[in-house]
Amino acid sequence: MTAPSPDFALEIVGLNKAFGGLKVTQGVSLSIRPGERRLIIGPNGAGKTTLFNQISGDMRPNAGQIKLFGEDVTTLAPHQRAHRGLSRTYQIITLFAGDTLEHNVTLGLLGLLPSRWQMWRPLSSYRHLAEEARRTLDSVGLLHLAAHPVSDLAYGEKRRVELAMALSQKPRVLLLDEPLAGLSNAERATVKALIASISKQTTVVMIEHDMDTALDLAETVTLLNYGKVIVDGQRDQVIVDERTREVYLGA
Ligand SMILES: Nc1ncnc2c1ncn2[C@@H]1O[C@H](COP(=O)(O)OP(=O)(O)OP(=O)(O)O)[C@@H](O)[C@H]1O
Ligand SMILES: [Mg+2]
Repeated sequence: MTAPSPDFALEIVGLNKAFGGLKVTQGVSLSIRPGERRLIIGPNGAGKTTLFNQISGDMRPNAGQIKLFGEDVTTLAPHQRAHRGLSRTYQIITLFAGDTLEHNVTLGLLGLLPSRWQMWRPLSSYRHLAEEARRTLDSVGLLHLAAHPVSDLAYGEKRRVELAMALSQKPRVLLLDEPLAGLSNAERATVKALIASISKQTTVVMIEHDMDTALDLAETVTLLNYGKVIVDGQRDQVIVDERTREVYLGA
């Protein structure tokens, strides 16, 4: 008999995180369905990245529960969550600038980049890694730069590499922390198309300030402010909500 499929890809209940006296997430609860495209918005310092850090396991919450496809992962290490299909990108680029692009991607696939956890693989699959690294680069049109140091790449190209690395794991849940930040218009269009092309097998949760671009990609939106969920629901309803205007749009 197969287990019933859970209603939620990601379910968060009452997540609290404080740094000293500063309460950064305060009772955050979220339920995200399989295949959903969820956008997380909110002013600087609202606790968005801290929320992702708790979901990925990079930070332990002080209280609350995180479930991935019905399984409680709250006390699991980052790589154990990765094993269960969770993948993320970071707000700050985590590639080694002096190393080649191909080597970076290979290290990423091995789980050896700093502050980055990836799928742990059986030894027998290592010989396929170089091929996989090249496939990953090809998928974002950067294979021709494989032998170049990362420092040769434009900022937008680095972001595409990180996104491709996360996608190469075929994650069930993908967390994207400001994937469009700092990009030119042309780069933004490229990265946006890449995100739009992600299979519905993957649930996508994205933090993004660039509402004009990000709203197109979102089905549902959560607004955080001072570590609390202020509004949560269907995109169009959240946009017109009075509380969204007050907090985010400054209207
Ligand atoms: N490791 C830490 N130690 C102490 N304070 C922290 C730590 N991480 C985050 N904070 C604080 O928590 C608050 C929320 O930070 P967080 O990075 O989650 O915000 P954010 O919503 O992602 O903001 P932004 O839009 O600027 O990326 C900020 O006041 C920040 O200074
Ligand atoms: Mg942030």
